[in-house]
Amino acid sequence: MKINEQVFESLVAEFQQRVDTALDYWLPATSVNPMRLHQAMRYAVLAPGKRVRPILVYATAKALGIELDKVDGAACAVEIIHAYSLIHDDLPAMDDDDLRRGRPTCHRKFDEATAILAGDALQALAFYIISHDPKMTQRERARLTMITNLAMFSGSRGMAGGQAIDLQSVGKSLNIAELETMHIHKTGALIRICIQLAALSADKLSDSDFTALDSYAKCIGLSFQVQDDILDVTGDTATLGKTQGSDSARNKPTFPSIIGLQASQEKALELHQQALQALSIFAEEADILRYISAWFIQRTH
Ligand code: IPE
Ligand code: IPE
Ligand code: MG
Ligand code: MG
Ligand code: MG
Repeated sequence: MKINEQVFESLVAEFQQRVDTALDYWLPATSVNPMRLHQAMRYAVLAPGKRVRPILVYATAKALGIELDKVDGAACAVEIIHAYSLIHDDLPAMDDDDLRRGRPTCHRKFDEATAILAGDALQALAFYIISHDPKMTQRERARLTMITNLAMFSGSRGMAGGQAIDLQSVGKSLNIAELETMHIHKTGALIRICIQLAALSADKLSDSDFTALDSYAKCIGLSFQVQDDILDVTGDTATLGKTQGSDSARNKPTFPSIIGLQASQEKALELHQQALQALSIFAEEADILRYISAWFIQRTH
């Protein structure tokens, strides 16, 4: 399929709708006990996020000619882990934020204990979906690798580990390598797993194609967080749907705070170019992934 700006936007909208329907299906109803916990889970997950991670799963599937039905479970699992990470990230013990996706954060809307439990339950739900969804690949080995890698990339050697580094770095001046390590873990890992889960759903994929996609994923995983840091400085609260200036208020080491705004923007662009380079072995079937990389560094929220 030939992609231009308009086609890209309509595909993004299609993927957002698709994952919202699937998320609604998997999330427990608010009428089921314990109701308050289920309300909090649905509140956090179904809030209007960009659905960047599911979009990446679907886009990679499209690029590889995989039916989207086969990756709905992966798209949901990653978005649900992400939603849990945001609930916990916003808690007073972490970033202590009041606004998320244009709404009160989960612990503000409910209470801290409910928010903690909603995060716990969402993490378990993600693994339930990825191991249980009957539409996903029936190749058991691939399925097990998906579960193993999702666990690795979410845990102490992935996202949760990155969050630990983030917390221990407050008020410290990290060097660029340390800052990159933090970002690669706290944000890059969950972006990288999106592409891996889609790639593992392919019936046949060469090692070189897998490695190229993974290299692309590493570049955009980092550029996404560089842009997140930039937007904390240049964005506005209404557009972001989260409080602008939260990083500097909490003394967080970020790309702009360490190398300055302009160098951060150059870094994001450089990562975008590296991402395109990683995709050079693919023809126009990977254009959708090229557009996503550009979106990541141009976005305003
Ligand atoms: C915010 O992620 C947290 C980071 C990892 C930078 P997103 O910018 O994807 O947030 P939502 O899902 O659109 O709310
Ligand atoms: C969040 O990083 C990373 C995770 C939630 C894993 P940030 O703390 O920068 O995210 P925002 O800016 O609150 O969305
Ligand atoms: Mg944080
Ligand atoms: Mg935060
Ligand atoms: Mg941030």
